[in-house]
Parts: sequence; C-alpha cells; structure tokens
Amino acid sequence: MCTMANRITLGSQNFLKVFVLTVAIWNNSQPLMENGLTTNDSHRFLATVPQKLPALTTLLDLSHNNISELLISDFSSLPKLQVLILSHNLIKFLDLSIFQYNKDLEHLDLSHNRLQTLACHPIVHLKHLDISYNHYVAIPMCPEFGKMKNLEYLGFSVRKIQQSDFRYIAPLPLKTLFLGLEDLVEYNSGNLPMFNTDTLQIILPWNSDFHVLLDLAINSTVNLELSNIQDKQINDLRTFLLHLNKNAALLHLSLSNIHCEWNDLINILQAVWKSTIQYFVISNAAHLEVPNTIHFDHTETSLKALTVKQTTFTTFFSAPTDLYRLFADMNITALTIADAGLIHMLCPSQYSSFNYLSFSNNSLTDTVFQGCDNLALLESLILQKNQLKHLAEVSLMTSYMKSLKYLDMSKNLLQYKGNGDNCNWGENLIELDLSFNMLSGSVFRCLPVRIQKLDLQSNNILNIPKDITELGSLEEVNLASNKLSDLPGCGQFRSLTLLNIEMNSVVLPSSEFYHSCQGIKELNAGHNPFKCSCELRQFINLEEQGLLKLVGWPEAYMCWYPENVRGRRLNNFHISNLTCNRTLLVSIILIASIVIAAVASFLCVRFHVPWYLKMIWQWIQVKHRIWKSKPEDMLRNVQFHAFVSYSEHDSDWVKNVLIPNLEKEDGSIQICQHERNFVAGKSILGNIIDCIEKSYKSIFVLTPNFVQSEWCHYELYFADQNLLSKDHDRLILVLLESIPTYIIPERYHKLKALMARRTYLEWPKERSKQGLFWANLRAAIQVKIPHLENDF
Ligand SMILES: *[C@@H]1O[C@H](CO)[C@@H](O)[C@H](O)[C@H]1NC(C)=O
Ligand SMILES: *[C@@H]1O[C@H](CO)[C@@H](O)[C@H](O)[C@H]1NC(C)=O
Ligand SMILES: *[C@@H]1O[C@H](CO)[C@@H](O)[C@H](O)[C@H]1NC(C)=O
Ligand SMILES: *[C@@H]1O[C@H](CO)[C@@H](O)[C@H](O)[C@H]1NC(C)=O
Ligand SMILES: *[C@@H]1O[C@H](CO)[C@@H](O)[C@H](O)[C@H]1NC(C)=O
Ligand SMILES: *[C@@H]1O[C@H](CO)[C@@H](O)[C@H](O)[C@H]1NC(C)=O
Repeated sequence: MCTMANRITLGSQNFLKVFVLTVAIWNNSQPLMENGLTTNDSHRFLATVPQKLPALTTLLDLSHNNISELLISDFSSLPKLQVLILSHNLIKFLDLSIFQYNKDLEHLDLSHNRLQTLACHPIVHLKHLDISYNHYVAIPMCPEFGKMKNLEYLGFSVRKIQQSDFRYIAPLPLKTLFLGLEDLVEYNSGNLPMFNTDTLQIILPWNSDFHVLLDLAINSTVNLELSNIQDKQINDLRTFLLHLNKNAALLHLSLSNIHCEWNDLINILQAVWKSTIQYFVISNAAHLEVPNTIHFDHTETSLKALTVKQTTFTTFFSAPTDLYRLFADMNITALTIADAGLIHMLCPSQYSSFNYLSFSNNSLTDTVFQGCDNLALLESLILQKNQLKHLAEVSLMTSYMKSLKYLDMSKNLLQYKGNGDNCNWGENLIELDLSFNMLSGSVFRCLPVRIQKLDLQSNNILNIPKDITELGSLEEVNLASNKLSDLPGCGQFRSLTLLNIEMNSVVLPSSEFYHSCQGIKELNAGHNPFKCSCELRQFINLEEQGLLKLVGWPEAYMCWYPENVRGRRLNNFHISNLTCNRTLLVSIILIASIVIAAVASFLCVRFHVPWYLKMIWQWIQVKHRIWKSKPEDMLRNVQFHAFVSYSEHDSDWVKNVLIPNLEKEDGSIQICQHERNFVAGKSILGNIIDCIEKSYKSIFVLTPNFVQSEWCHYELYFADQNLLSKDHDRLILVLLESIPTYIIPERYHKLKALMARRTYLEWPKERSKQGLFWANLRAAIQVKIPHLENDF
C-alpha cells in the first residue's frame, strides 16, 4: 500500500523545486546582470508596486507581498528591467501588454498568485515565464506564445486539461516545460500532446485515475523529471518505460516523491535498466521495507549512473546481503546512495566499472570495502558523514584502489594515534578531505605521499609534528578551525601554495614560517588571536609588500593581545621602527648625544663662553670679598696710587716713560706694577687682582696690542667690577696709539663703550704737549693714602 503523503508538504517541496529552477535560470543570466542593479522589495506587505523605483533597476524582486493589481505605469519607468519576480502575491488579473515598454524583460515569475485570466501579448525577449500555481482552471489560450521566439522556460499548473489545450504550447522548442498537475480534476485520455522540450517536469496528479503517464509521448526530450508518484501510477510508469522508443532522446530520468513498496521500485529499476536511459535518480522514496531475497537481472544495460537519495531502507536482517549485492554488482560507472541509513556495502563480486561512488550520510563503518580489489577503476569515493573511526584502517581499504584519486571522508569520527607504520594509502590518491573529524597532529604521519590537496578543517590539531615524512606534492592545505598556536613551517611541504589556517589560535607566526614558506601565494589566517607587537610587523609587511595574498584582509585580521589594542585591525596597527629595533634606538641616542656635545662645544668656542665664565667667577669672588670687608676699610687698604695695565708689547713705553714720569723721587706716588710688586706664591691672576684692589686708580695703556691681549681685557674687566673703581672716573684710559673700533672684538663691549665715550687721555706725540699730559695724569691719581703718610 502506498501512503497518502501530506499535501502541504508536497506543495512546499514543489515550491522549493520551482525556486531551485528559478535560481538556476538566474545563474544562467548572471553575465547579463553583472552591471545590473538589483532592487529587492520582497516580504514587505506591499499592497501595490512601489513607485519611484530606481530607473536603472534590472532585477526587481517583489515576491511575498500583498500586491493584487499591476498597472502599466508600475513598470514603464524601468526600461532596463530584465528580471521581475512577482511570485506569492494576490494578483488576479494580468494583461501582458503592460510590459510593452520593458523591452529587455527576460524573466517573469508570476507563480503562486490568484490569476484567473491572462490577457496575452508577445513579450519578444522573454526567456522565462512562470505562471504556475494560480487560480485559472485551464491552460491560458495564448497564440502569442508562438511569437515569443526566445522563450526557454514555461511553467504552469492547471486543474483541467481538454483536447487541444496544448495547441500553442506543445510545438514550442523550449528548454524546460513545467507542468503542475497535482490538482487535476478533469482529464480525458489522449489529451496530452507530444512535447518538444529538452526538459519536461511533471508533478503527477493525486487522482491516479487519470493515466497521464500512459499518454505521455516524448521524442526530443532528453530529461524527464516526474514527481508525486502514487503506487497506482507505478504500472503506468512501467508501461511508459517498456514502450519507450529505443530511438528516443531520453537519457535522464528523475523520479521524486515516490509512494510505493519495494517490489514496485525494483520493477521500475529493472525497467530503467533495460531501457536506453543512462542517468537515473530516485529521490524521496520514503521508507522501503526490503525483503531478504531480491531478484534482479544485472546483465545488459545502458545505465551509466544511478542515484538513490532520501530513501531509507529498512530490513528484517542485520546483513541484507541481497540489497548490498543489488547495488555492488551493478556494472555502471557512477553510483550514489545518500541519506539512506546503509550500514554496510559489499565489494563487487566481479571486476567493477565503478568510477565514482558516493555513500554520503549513511552509517558505514571501517569494515567497508576492506580487502576489495574489484574497485580498481574507482577514481572518486565519497564517504562523507558516516561512522568511520580509524584512519589507518581506511587507508588500508584504499591501498587496493589503484586508480583512486579523490577520497572524501569528512564528517566522520576519524582518529589517528600511531606513527605511520600502519598506514598504507592508494598510490594515486592526490586529494583527501578529512574535515570535521577528530584527528590530531599525528594525522600528518599517516597521509598519502603523493597528496596534492588536503582538507583538515575542524579537527583537533594542536601542532604539526616536525618529524614527518616529506609531502613534496602537497599544494593546498585547509587547517581552518583547529587549535594550532603557530603558523606551521613548510619544511616538509615544499610545494605548498595555498594555506588556510583561519580560526585557530595563532598568536604570532614563527620565524620558521617566514623562512620556509616562501612558496605560499595565498594564505587565509583570519580570525586568529594575533599579538600586535614588533614581531607581527613582518607578517603585516608580507601583505603590504604584495608577497602574499591574505584572504579576508583586512576585515578578518584583528589584534587580540595586548588588551589595549584588542579589536583593532592589523592594517591599522602601526608601531615605529625605533620602538622595535634596540640597536637602532641605542645608535640614535648615541648619535644624538654626540651631535649635542659637538654643537655645545662649537657654541662655547664661538661665543667665548669659557672666558665669560672665568670672568663671572672672578667677579663673584671679588664681590664676596668686598661684601666681607667694611666700606671704610676700603681706602685704608689702598697702598698704591695707580695700577698700570698694559700689553707686553707696550712694556718699553710703560717702564721707560710712564712709570719714571709718574713716580716722583719723593715716593709720593706709588704705582703698582704686577711684575715689580709680584708677591711670590700667588698666581698671576691673584697678583693682578691684588694690585687692582690695592690701587686707588687703574691706568690702562690702550694700543692695538692691548686690544689683542686677553689678559688686558681681563684686567680691564676686573678693574671695572672693583667696588672702589665702580665709578668710571677711577678708570684712566691712556690712548697710546689710536685704535680703530673695528679691531675691537665684539665681546669686549666694555672697552667699546669706554672708547665711545672718549674719556681717555691721548698720548701726544709732540714733546711740548707731554708736560700737560703728565700733569693731568698725576692730578688724576693724586690722593692721600693713609698709611703712606704715616710711613713718611
Ligand atoms: C530578496 O530577499 C529575500 C529575503 O528577504 C531573499 O530570500 C531573496 O532571495 C532576495 N531576492 C533576490 C533576487 O536576491
Ligand atoms: C497581506 O495578506 C495576508 C494574507 O492574505 C494578510 O494576512 C495580511 O493582513 C495582509 N497584509 C496587509 C498589510 O495587507
Ligand atoms: C561491465 O561493463 C563493461 C562496459 O561498460 C563491459 O566491458 C564488461 O564486460 C561488463 N562486465 C560485466 C561483468 O558485465
Ligand atoms: C541524513 O540521512 C537521514 C536519513 O538517513 C536524514 O533524515 C537526514 O536528514 C540526512 N541528513 C542530511 C544532512 O541530509
Ligand atoms: C622600517 O624598517 C623597514 C625595514 O626594516 C623599512 O622597510 C621601513 O621603511 C621602515 N619604516 C620606517 C617608517 O622607517
Ligand atoms: C635595526 O635597524 C638597523 C639599522 O636601520 C638595521 O640594519 C637592522 O636590520 C634592524 N634590525 C631589525 C631587527 O629590524
């Protein structure tokens, strides 16, 4: 007995199908859409088509709204419109002429509305028209369909099929025709025409009294997809297959939503086996109770590929050998049994033609195909989502599969703990998918030596062992979502060009990575907890210098440590060379110090800073001494009338002319001359200061020689600072030879100022004037010196 499946479920499956097809058509027209503008206003509760849509819209999705009416003005302002999706609305009436201004319109989806009538109009560029699941009863009679020369897809569903309803549709050379007939209430035998379409999709009626399949005549159709097959239609289907013209073009047959028993299905399979069909898909055949003994004639078939999916086999026996034999001994190139709950599969009993085997989403264990040498032609084996546990055992299975290139064992329970001794892989295996298992780093000790592409995503890998054998052909590795704390080195993978290490625990790439992984062209290292430090700059540089394409850069690359920069993108993380390079830092400090010292010394010399410092020091000492002694004592200390300061070069004049003329024989005028009144044990400077302090006045003999002598300036400076001679009258300048102002260095501004005031006595060359000169000079230094008076 076949079960009556839930109608609503079926409806949604059909919708899914239409949706998938629609997507497929979009994919086809994608190049057209490349520069297009998509406006998606689906699921908005819209009651009318929105106004002011972007004029350049090429794709407009208005599905799942409450639109009940379409107007010519709704779309006339969208001259570029190519794709219009209006499915799942409340539209009752449609005049196709409203699209007369949309010259580019190619794709129109009006499925799941409430259309009762359709006013026809040829839309010349239309390729895809879906008016299925509406409220009209019969097929719209549109002679204009015949004028739509570009039409490739046409979809509709009806409740009545009458003679000559298909008059305008059947001749169309379509690519795909979709007929939703599940709600058929009126049908007369013979009302179905011969179709001229490549792909014919039919949802069969619930009412199996309508023998639609018996009337189905196909000639050029290559691909037939039948859905909603009730047990009463199985005989019709068998008849259809048995009477299939051997010269018919049909190659692909797909049956889905099948409600029948095992025996019915095996009969259909046998009928297909003996037909000219090459590709056969059975999907969603619900639960099938499989008997212990199965009779099937495996000889002579055109079939190349069989797919059975979403079909669960239930058996009363733990090892339904006949079921396994049925499939294993099929002499075809490709077999897929998916989502079927299989717990085992036998090795083919003869040398098998299988090139492709897929058993995804079953319950196969490590025992599958062990020691099986009849699969020598197998190139691809898919064992995704099964119960495989031991990698080594699976490797032994492949060792018999001499042609095996691709093996998918993702989403199993695989583990490996050994050191590689017990692994033995098929010698031609180059691509291996081990993602979503429980493997640790030791998996690298158990891999096919010629492997080129390896997927180890979502395992338990903490590190890659160093002592593994070289995988010299490995080009591509996916290690995403593991627990690696380091970017691995590539010492053992010399050909590696693509590495995915996304979502691991990589803090810093090791120096070994930079060293050995120069062959890598593309790296995905996003979503790792990077430590943003000096060391990471080398990694950032790789991207910035274009040495490496970082997938997901910059969004997926963020700092995690230290916490103050957490969440900052790596491309926004900058740290100066100076902070990072200690050698650089030390050398820069050193260089800076040397420069500062040099500049300071230069400035000192240039501006005679030491001279000033010396002067200031002396001045401070004098001030100090004066401060310590009482003012009235000052004059009491005076022992000389004058101190004479002069340049060595002028000493002749001083010693032979000046001093003899000033010092009288009675000794009433005493001159302090530091050479003559030298106190042993005192420095020259000390003696000079002594002289100045003990003299009432200071006479300076000015000549160009004087100006050149540092000592002289010093004496002048000091005399000027002396408290006794603070008054400028106490300084007597004798201009022996004229001095041009320019030869006086800038720093001797005291001398400059004095000269400028012209308060000097000029030595007259004429003998007659000299008498006055001496008188003047003597008067200037004449004073009563107390102790001298006492002495005399
Ligand atoms: C429009 O958006 C919906 C989700 O709101 C989505 O399902 C649909 O695929 C989108 N349509 C297109 C054409 O992208
Ligand atoms: C849209 O239609 C649905 C179903 O017909 C209805 O429940 C809903 O209230 C309508 N929404 C608006 C905004 O008209
Ligand atoms: C299997 O099919 C191949 C051709 O596809 C044929 O050569 C071979 O003899 C067949 N083997 C059996 C056992 O039928
Ligand atoms: C796997 O197969 C079972 C039936 O054996 C099915 O119920 C389940 O949905 C399938 N899972 C996937 C992911 O297809
Ligand atoms: C930092 O140093 C690297 C090389 O060590 C150099 O390429 C880069 O230009 C330097 N950056 C700055 C800002 O000086
Ligand atoms: C530090 O800087 C010096 C001078 O610029 C350079 O030669 C050296 O390579 C740098 N060292 C590092 C580790 O960047």
